[in-house]
Amino acid sequence: MTDIEAFIRRLPKAELHLHLEGTITPATLVELSTLHDNKPITVAEAEALYRFSDFTGFLLAFKAVCGQLIGPGDYELAAWRMMQHLAAQGVVHAEVYVSVGVIYHWGTGDPLAFEPIFAGLENARERAARELGLSIYWIFDAVRHFSLEEAERVFLKAAEMRRRYPSIVGIGLGGDERRTGSEPFRALYAQAREAGLRLTNHAGETTGPEAIREALAIGSERIGHAVSAIQDFYLLQELKERGIPLELNPTSNVRTGVCASFAAHPLRRYFDAGLLVTLNSDDPAFFGSDLVNEYLLAHSEQGFTRKELRQLASNSINASFLPVLEKTEWLFRIESIK
Ligand code: ADE
Ligand code: ZN
Repeated sequence: MTDIEAFIRRLPKAELHLHLEGTITPATLVELSTLHDNKPITVAEAEALYRFSDFTGFLLAFKAVCGQLIGPGDYELAAWRMMQHLAAQGVVHAEVYVSVGVIYHWGTGDPLAFEPIFAGLENARERAARELGLSIYWIFDAVRHFSLEEAERVFLKAAEMRRRYPSIVGIGLGGDERRTGSEPFRALYAQAREAGLRLTNHAGETTGPEAIREALAIGSERIGHAVSAIQDFYLLQELKERGIPLELNPTSNVRTGVCASFAAHPLRRYFDAGLLVTLNSDDPAFFGSDLVNEYLLAHSEQGFTRKELRQLASNSINASFLPVLEKTEWLFRIESIK
């Protein structure tokens, strides 16, 4: 391991844009298929599924992987493996998207089926806190190109369950921005905020800067991707002045064809402009990356120095939904890392 990799691993980091389903490796997919299917998929078929060349292909692969998550045991297995991998990278806190919208849309149709699934996720979360010293918050993600009623169902479920499970911290919208923006969700976001949920949103991944403006207009507190903000100077000014955290995912953007290369990603320009940027891995198993690799690429492809990598780690803590006291403790620890 190089010195810089060891340094990155030592830095306490938060991962703020990570889809549980996107952490399922081809090997785990085969294992799940063996549990569910009469004729399980082969490793070669699983690997082929992950070889998409654009955003639409990625969404189709994501859907196929979600189709192998059926019962609470599947979710617990996926979550526990994700958490072990996070801890091994020096991640101390993660805010993880769960595609509740997908479960409702493609799942069993049984409205009671979600609670046991969530209990499986909580088993993994509690075990990770106990055995790995890792803290996890959940963000319930709806699919923007499904119906408004379906998104409402996801957000109302988050609001109701949050009273019993404080680990449910917020809501988000994923899916295809080219089909549905943010404006239709204005009232639902206001309702979620009233319920004490924090508001995240994918915006400006496959669409222009106006999609980011729309996401901000409905009250989104953190923006996922925000690749196209670079096209709009005044938007950059606003993001900076308001200290809006950006959940950037450079390798994801390269692999879905949104960005030509890691070097061409606006990460460096946002950072130098003083924006609150965080580095994340989105769907690491789909993109052949992980958080440590994103930090390594920031170093090798965009010249981020140790001091700047430390700043990215601090940003991740600052942009998290952790209580202030916990943030202060982690920030202090980050400063002490040699
Ligand atoms: N769901 C999982 N990953 C996503 C992404 N990068 N964009 C939109 N929806 C997603
Ligand atoms: Zn995402």
